[in-house]
Amino acid sequence: MSLGRLVIVGATGAVGREALGILEARGHPAAGIAAVASARSSGAKLGYAGGEIEVAALSERAFEGADVALFCADAETARRWAPVAVRAGAVVVDNSSAFRMDPDVPLVIPEVNGGLVAEAAGPRIIANPNCSTIILLAALNPLRAVFGVERIVVATYQAVSGAGAAAIDELHGQARAVLGGGEARPEVFREPCAFNVFSHDSAVDEETGLNVEEQKLIAETRKIWGDEQVEVTPTCVRVPVVRAHTEAITVTLARSATEEEVRRAIGGGAGLAVIDDRPGNRFPTPLKAAGGDEVLVGRIRRDPGRAAGPAGASRGWCLLVCGDQLRKGAALNAVQIADLAVGSRRARLAAAG
Ligand SMILES: NC(=O)c1ccc[n+]([C@@H]2O[C@H](COP(=O)([O-])OP(=O)(O)OC[C@H]3O[C@@H](n4cnc5c(N)ncnc54)[C@H](OP(=O)(O)O)[C@@H]3O)[C@@H](O)[C@H]2O)c1
Repeated sequence: MSLGRLVIVGATGAVGREALGILEARGHPAAGIAAVASARSSGAKLGYAGGEIEVAALSERAFEGADVALFCADAETARRWAPVAVRAGAVVVDNSSAFRMDPDVPLVIPEVNGGLVAEAAGPRIIANPNCSTIILLAALNPLRAVFGVERIVVATYQAVSGAGAAAIDELHGQARAVLGGGEARPEVFREPCAFNVFSHDSAVDEETGLNVEEQKLIAETRKIWGDEQVEVTPTCVRVPVVRAHTEAITVTLARSATEEEVRRAIGGGAGLAVIDDRPGNRFPTPLKAAGGDEVLVGRIRRDPGRAAGPAGASRGWCLLVCGDQLRKGAALNAVQIADLAVGSRRARLAAAG
């Protein structure tokens, strides 16, 4: 579907470039895209469909005549400029955390709660959830739909690109330095990221001990599912991987399921692909997920910490999941939301005659 005239705010960043790549693959014409970033990038050229798109500094003019604005910048930029884009008549899909917990802003994963996009008409802001939340809930969506979910324990193994384009350069640079006998000098992160693993770099709440990434996983899961009771126990960790997050998930279902029932539900899940080769010990990896649209699910097994019932039925199940957080965790999910928004706007216009 054509998204009309589109503005990408933060087009030079990791998510913005991924969004451009997705639009290019869909054949969206270069003339229908305005690439916008900070004044630092004004005049920079981004390769697109065999040609180039010139980057402009963010200004009110960028949104004139825009149908959709994909915000791929920081929360402060989104807070200031998303309302400007809406006033200009655009549907805003924002990748930052700025509006996610705003009760008036839908927080959307199309496979889970895409219906919210069609409910409200006109220019508006729709928030893209945090990347770890999208990957987690995409994987659990079919289990929740069939059996219900009461509790989630999740450990994340998050790629450095989750912290933006500069973090990718930092991992490459540190890896080269260390392999050359030098030292890893952290700048983006507080800890060296090459050949290291560390607790997520977002701020830690001194009272609860939860970092911001963990707080987002809890709050966003409850908002997206509309379930304040669901128990979420996250531990978020950064690993020396360029792109695609991994998540080790233990889920407690609301009712018992057999392994066959669990596999059948996950196998039919939208946007999921199962890689679960026990004899070959082959399961999802970030390298297999990188660059792909699907969330990979494997190591599907009964939680050994819970007693099983007849036929091995249990409420406790374990999964290993990998998803490209720059695609399904950000740019792809945002484009899918834009598709829903533009589709429902066209349907409304057609119905109005
Ligand atoms: N990376 C991920 O996996 C991921 C996943 C989900 C959500 N997100 C969210 O998506 C957003 C973008 O993340 P990212 O990883 O792509 O970051 P990034 O690589 O650091 O890119 C940031 C982009 O924002 C632009 N920008 C910064 N300040 C600006 C300003 N004042 N006005 C206009 N543009 C400005 C930058 O332009 P310049 O190049 O000119 O500085 C750049 O294009 C963030 O809110 C992030 O939390 C990221």
